[in-house]
Amino acid sequence: MNYYLTISTASVAAFVSVIYLIRKQREYKWGWCKDKQKLNGKIFIITGSNSGLGYQTARILAKRSATVILACRCLEKAKEAISNIRKETDEGELIELELDLANFESVRRFCKEIKEKYTKFHCLIANAGLSLKEPFLTKDNIEVHHQVNYLSHFLIVNELFDSIKSNNAKVVIVSSKLHESGKINFDNFGKIVQSNKRDNKYYNNTKLMNFYFAKELYRKGIDVNVLCPGLSFTNLFRDYKPKFYHFILFSPIILFFLKSAEQGAQNIVYCATNSINTDEVNPDKSFIVMNLRQEKSKVNLKDDVSEKLWKISEKMCRTN
Ligand SMILES: NC(=O)c1ccc[n+]([C@@H]2O[C@H](COP(=O)([O-])OP(=O)(O)OC[C@H]3O[C@@H](n4cnc5c(N)ncnc54)[C@H](OP(=O)(O)O)[C@@H]3O)[C@@H](O)[C@H]2O)c1
Ligand SMILES: *[C@@H]1O[C@H](CO)[C@@H](O)[C@H](O)[C@H]1NC(C)=O
Repeated sequence: MNYYLTISTASVAAFVSVIYLIRKQREYKWGWCKDKQKLNGKIFIITGSNSGLGYQTARILAKRSATVILACRCLEKAKEAISNIRKETDEGELIELELDLANFESVRRFCKEIKEKYTKFHCLIANAGLSLKEPFLTKDNIEVHHQVNYLSHFLIVNELFDSIKSNNAKVVIVSSKLHESGKINFDNFGKIVQSNKRDNKYYNNTKLMNFYFAKELYRKGIDVNVLCPGLSFTNLFRDYKPKFYHFILFSPIILFFLKSAEQGAQNIVYCATNSINTDEVNPDKSFIVMNLRQEKSKVNLKDDVSEKLWKISEKMCRTN
């Protein structure tokens, strides 16, 4: 009896160790941003930084003594995020600012405040995003994924374009690998189009817009990176309300593919900080950084599409 108990305990222990080792090997492969250089006096603006990847990015940058502006739709949540970071570190400076990306008026107000107080910022991280089960029209009469995931970030960059250009500020756009299945429908741009598919095409499509947006900024001489953080454990899927049995069902995926939010933030921190202390323009001529291993997107981004997207976005945001 004792003999069998020993054998089974040993096999369980071996099994757990193998899983653990595979997990560690995965984490090693995903990579960590090793740079620990201090960022005193450097100003980073992060949209949607009260939760998930944006929060972790703010936290990591604060620990490196940066000034971080947490641009969030709910000031209370931003303050709570700041007090949580403050439990860990006194370094850096953390400032909350109100920004509701589903409302152009709020975006314009936010940009005005940045221009008045923080015009010499070093990096803008367009991170906020959502994925909803049911699309709806915002106050500005635009389909919500279009506005939050893409158009409002387009508007921010346009409003702050002169500061970005004159200070050589960096723009980091958080997209997703799902952009590879995205499509841009110029005929019904920003509208709700009925379909019988259950999954969220607006998410994929707006994440593709993020790539074209980055391409056009690159063509305009901006130091820009667009990236996929990789599948990470955040609040992004809150609308799908995962149940406990989903976690059991998907446990192999979770164990081998799901990053912690802190690890997911590594790509963002890497793009936001690389070459920032040297004031050099990004020596890596490629603007697409899918991850720390510099994987490339499978999409062939065409110039005429990025130009067309820029034009239609200007019209939607009434920037010209
Ligand atoms: N997690 C992943 O696996 C994954 C994979 C690929 C790409 N991404 C991308 O990573 C980015 C960050 O997402 P996350 O995973 O960290 O999700 P998250 O935890 O849900 O964080 C999203 C952030 O965006 C904010 N936001 C949503 N709507 C907004 C609005 N109207 N105005 C201002 N802020 C708004 C949220 O604020 P509230 O808390 O107030 O809602 C939150 O701070 C997104 O662009 C997402 O597409 C994530
Ligand atoms: C979104 O992208 C994922 C991954 O490529 C794909 O499985 C899914 O079908 C796409 N959704 C739509 C509606 O195209």
